[in-house]
Amino acid sequence: MTSANTANTDAAGPAATGDGSGPLLRVRDLTVTFAGRRPAPWRRPATTVAVNGVDLDIAPGETLGLVGESGSGKSTTARAVLRLLRPDRGTIEAAGFRVDGFGRRVPAGYRRAVQAVFQDPLGSLDPTKVIGDIVAEPLAVHVGLRGPERDGRVAELLEQVGLGAQHARRYPYELSGGQRQRVSIARALAPEPRLIILDEPVSALDVSVQSQVVNLLEDVRERTGVGYLFVAHDLAVVRHACDRIAVMYRGRVVEEGPADRICERPAHPYTEELLAAVPDPDPARQRLQRQRRRELAAATAAPAPNTAPAPAAGGCPFAPRCPHRMPVCTDTFPDRTSLPGGGRVACHLYDAPVTTPEEVR
Ligand SMILES: Nc1ncnc2c1ncn2[C@@H]1O[C@H](COP(=O)(O)OP(=O)(O)OP(=O)(O)O)[C@@H](O)[C@H]1O
Ligand code: SF4
Ligand SMILES: [Mg+2]
Repeated sequence: MTSANTANTDAAGPAATGDGSGPLLRVRDLTVTFAGRRPAPWRRPATTVAVNGVDLDIAPGETLGLVGESGSGKSTTARAVLRLLRPDRGTIEAAGFRVDGFGRRVPAGYRRAVQAVFQDPLGSLDPTKVIGDIVAEPLAVHVGLRGPERDGRVAELLEQVGLGAQHARRYPYELSGGQRQRVSIARALAPEPRLIILDEPVSALDVSVQSQVVNLLEDVRERTGVGYLFVAHDLAVVRHACDRIAVMYRGRVVEEGPADRICERPAHPYTEELLAAVPDPDPARQRLQRQRRRELAAATAAPAPNTAPAPAAGGCPFAPRCPHRMPVCTDTFPDRTSLPGGGRVACHLYDAPVTTPEEVR
């Protein structure tokens, strides 16, 4: 891949595209497998293909939502970008660094440029430190700030996420879930990153607090120009927060495109299913949604997500659950087709019609 070769492969050096001119994130053919248990000492361990040929793109300052049900490979993708695991195959360029080219040592510049916020803020904040020290730590490590200058910046960051100076002296357990997640965001912002990986950042919060944190993230993005990879398991959370959305199912991106198009005109049957699960605020449309779901369930008798059998190797992963399944679906993975409203879908429903020689004549 030519553009990938232009990115930085020197683990310690500055990023070749770190001037902001290149893509913020460009993932190609990312594939990650995990070895499972050996069923017997003489048998090979079973492998799970957690992520299978994933392509993703994020432009500077853009938010890409990565959605899909549990086990679809979202966190594994996020962890590969954060270089918390090494992929089996594929290229990852992020914030100007060629991540898959890193050796054992991940460059400090990358650790600074790409930050993360996880689902469980209590688990990811050091319980023995007060909030002020938690936010100050990345300022010392990555920015080299000390003394009053650092204290001033901590106060600024806390203010930016809607917390006051009084919170700086508290311990994580003394704050609410929403406040703790604000601390995680402040800590992630401290080294002025270009990209933040948000892995289910609001899933553990009450619904009323979720929208406040999503609004805060949006506000921070407008002010700082940071880009996000926003992982969530349902479309309701990301539909208003993202520019683009990529939908994952069983390790594959089955559809991607502008958030508006995905939510108004979903193309893939799995995206339709995800969208049908999002309650519409309008009661009349809610009734229609319920009716549509009942009709779909009656028409397909599709197995529940966790009981769906694995698809045949090479076939569409959604085939066992798909109401539109065709013979071709069970043995051939569909090519990706561009869609008129933007983005692409991997589904045989959108295959170009086959033209026979008779029709040409
Ligand atoms: N460390 C690991 N060892 C073995 N298998 C793993 C490991 N991490 C993830 N998996 C498997 O890889 C697949 C994808 O998992 P992943 O955590 O990426 O999914 P997810 O989309 O983030 O799900 P969730 O919404 O539940 O967080 C699953 O089948 C999971 O069991
Ligand atoms: S490829 Fe076939 S089985 Fe898969 S989603 Fe499309 S129609 Fe359904
Ligand atoms: Mg996950």
